[in-house]
Amino acid sequence: MAVSSFDKRMMAAAIRYSYRNLGRTGTNPSVTTLLVRDDGEVPVIVGRGITAIGGRPHAETEAILEAGDLARGATAYVTLEPCAHHGSTPPCAEALVRDGIRRVVAATTDPDGRVSGQGYKILEDGGIEVEAGVLASDAEYAMAGYLTQRELGRPHVTLKMALSNDGKIGSRGSGQVAITGPESNAVSHVLRATSDVIIVGIGTVLEDDPSLTCRLPGMEDRTPARLVLDRNLRLPLQSALVRSAHDHPVIVATTRLPDDGKYQQLSEAGCLMMACEESDTGIALPELLDDLAGRGYSTVLVEGGAAVARAFLDAHLVDRIRLYVGPGEIGKDGVEAPVDPDNMPSGFELTGTEIYGADRRFEYERSR
Ligand SMILES: NC(=O)c1ccc[n+]([C@@H]2O[C@H](COP(=O)([O-])OP(=O)(O)OC[C@H]3O[C@@H](n4cnc5c(N)ncnc54)[C@H](OP(=O)(O)O)[C@@H]3O)[C@@H](O)[C@H]2O)c1
Repeated sequence: MAVSSFDKRMMAAAIRYSYRNLGRTGTNPSVTTLLVRDDGEVPVIVGRGITAIGGRPHAETEAILEAGDLARGATAYVTLEPCAHHGSTPPCAEALVRDGIRRVVAATTDPDGRVSGQGYKILEDGGIEVEAGVLASDAEYAMAGYLTQRELGRPHVTLKMALSNDGKIGSRGSGQVAITGPESNAVSHVLRATSDVIIVGIGTVLEDDPSLTCRLPGMEDRTPARLVLDRNLRLPLQSALVRSAHDHPVIVATTRLPDDGKYQQLSEAGCLMMACEESDTGIALPELLDDLAGRGYSTVLVEGGAAVARAFLDAHLVDRIRLYVGPGEIGKDGVEAPVDPDNMPSGFELTGTEIYGADRRFEYERSR
């Protein structure tokens, strides 16, 4: 049976649903399953599953549980190839066979060596018809953290910056400068909510005193870990970050040692201290990303400032760039943007432009 436009619609819905738990599933990807029955009248979704917070249970078993007996004979739309390895629970591919799923439509193949192709094989050996690769690039976009982790062994890195119309990102000595409007700001907070960790440099903290929280109504608990690159522990104890360290994690990446007085003060204030290696420009970034991967973080959002953004770009450690360009100008004394739509580093391709109120958003992806 060929892939129909209905299959694509269902897969698009499944991928949209997968965004709900992005940033909350640890080292597991946020995957969804929709079980759809077509008994001759109109097709009906009889079961929905999404990877649970923390990474277990998986989407397939949740959807089967919801569908109950109606799962038998249904089509399963899965955003990732069902798992094939035995852990503490049997593989999801076996669960789909056991519960009588008739057909599986999948978006992405799992690059995990224990699964890749094996999940599909279990399904086909069990008599299930399989269609793979449906809306694969949309699912890969949503699952970029997991896929980058598996393929490159480090988290996926998005660089996000707001630029004035004259290519500036701030103004020294002026604190936070409003560059974009409420629509862009709300979308940026969704990006925070779906990331595992936000990184900023100590320069931004000293200049802007940001809290880096997700402030969308009802989503305040989606604030990710916030990490400051701060070799010399200049982070003020009275900063918004330190004051909120007991509410949402604050990680201080430093080269200072635990016998340092400020180290102890920050630690007592609730900050998580992270010992780092040093490079010419500051904290050594590849090693930092290695350590973050080891802690289970798979999506990193770099929110600046200028020096940190440049360091990530120079180290070729940025996978996706989101630029918001506001209508106002900051003037010649402003902080020059390290990157702008007329000055993109090689290897990045424009993948989308959007309008949010008076702002324009440009998104770029590194070619793989
Ligand atoms: N519009 C936007 O989207 C946006 C976002 C954020 C910030 N900003 C603006 O950016 C400006 C601040 O930028 P900035 O360049 O002064 O500061 P920054 O990039 O936030 O921080 C730079 C500092 O971070 C530390 N650092 C540690 N490891 C580093 C590494 N590997 N690479 C680079 N820095 C490292 C260094 O201090 P140590 O040597 O002491 O460790 C360095 O001086 C402010 O005006 C702020 O308003 C704008």
